[in-house]
Amino acid sequence: MSFNQNSVKVELKDNYYEVIVRKGILKDCGQLISQLNVGKKCALISDSNVAPLYASQVTESLKKNEIDTELIEVEAGEASKSLESVENICRKMIKAGHDRHAFVIALGGGVIGDLAGLVSSVFYRGIPLIQIPTTIVSQVDSAVGGKTGVNTPEGKNLIGSFYHPRLVITDTLTLGSLPDREFNEGFAEVIKHAAIRDESMFEKIMNIDGRENLDELIIQNVKIKARIVEEDEKELSGLRALLNYGHTIGHAIEAAGGYGKYLHGEAISLGLIAANKISSETSHLSDSENRVIINALKKFNLPTKLEDSISNEDLLNVMRSDKKFKNGKIRFVVLNKLGEAELSEDVTEHDINSAINFIRK
Ligand code: NAD
Ligand code: GLY
Repeated sequence: MSFNQNSVKVELKDNYYEVIVRKGILKDCGQLISQLNVGKKCALISDSNVAPLYASQVTESLKKNEIDTELIEVEAGEASKSLESVENICRKMIKAGHDRHAFVIALGGGVIGDLAGLVSSVFYRGIPLIQIPTTIVSQVDSAVGGKTGVNTPEGKNLIGSFYHPRLVITDTLTLGSLPDREFNEGFAEVIKHAAIRDESMFEKIMNIDGRENLDELIIQNVKIKARIVEEDEKELSGLRALLNYGHTIGHAIEAAGGYGKYLHGEAISLGLIAANKISSETSHLSDSENRVIINALKKFNLPTKLEDSISNEDLLNVMRSDKKFKNGKIRFVVLNKLGEAELSEDVTEHDINSAINFIRK
């Protein structure tokens, strides 16, 4: 089977992997995975919404290729991205007889990808990982690039690792079963990519009609992420940090809301609007450019106003413990213009407080 059609290669310093994007590819996943020679025993990690829909297709395809599967299911939702889940999954794998010769498949959205990714990086000090993303967020962003992680009450993704998958298998047919709210939230990350890297994508975003023809847009987004990850794999030069546009305040909203009030993309929508405000005040983003981003967020019914139950102090406290203000300032991604972002060292706690007030109006 060819890896070249509809696929993006992520070239790292020492190795590479493919992200294959194709409708209906799930039923062939066993053949693709067996070509990698990663073993004959796998832990298929999924959640309570995704497993009933897609786990049997994956298991049957693996079985045809003589790979045994142990399905491990966690409760759907951000609350499952915890160290407790990592321990539970690892213990289930040990009880099922898995050892260093096993491998992990993450079947689900970003929650499962980040959680199963961390499991595979620590189980027997690291076993191979295959990502099968089933949401927009995971297909355009989280399944690519090797960031794994779990949350604590102090902040998002504070415990994690860099651990790349050996292969990403993206079946865009799976997007058909996403509830509307979960489908829409994914576009916050697409809009982020357009904002930081590719202004021309906004026209495509505004022309999206339905879920049928998203392969090209997903590939375009994977390419944006892959090229950034290739240049700054471990987020050392500042380039990869640009992918965090809207995430400093967005992650604080998720944590302060107890990882349940807002979906990830909804919190990022608010984070993007707050970051736009800071970009207009401290950099060169114009009102008309700001409107392009807000109109795109509105097209997907993403929130533009923060609920009153989360206070400025709650959000600032998360940012103080997570991101660390130094001398009242924080490293923050700002937009110079659509398609061009940079890291600023000059954003103050006062700027962030004003931006939070702005998203309440
Ligand atoms: P998610 O994994 O919680 O999925 C959203 C919901 O959709 C869940 O209820 C899930 O059960 C359900 N679902 C998933 N696929 C489905 C399908 N095909 N049909 C029906 N239901 C389906 O959330 P998400 O938005 O995919 O991911 C958010 C997470 O990703 C956050 O934890 C975020 O921090 C993380 N993330 C990580 C990175 C990274 O680089 N590692 C990047 C972006 C986001
Ligand atoms: N989602 C941000 C990153 O992968 O760096």
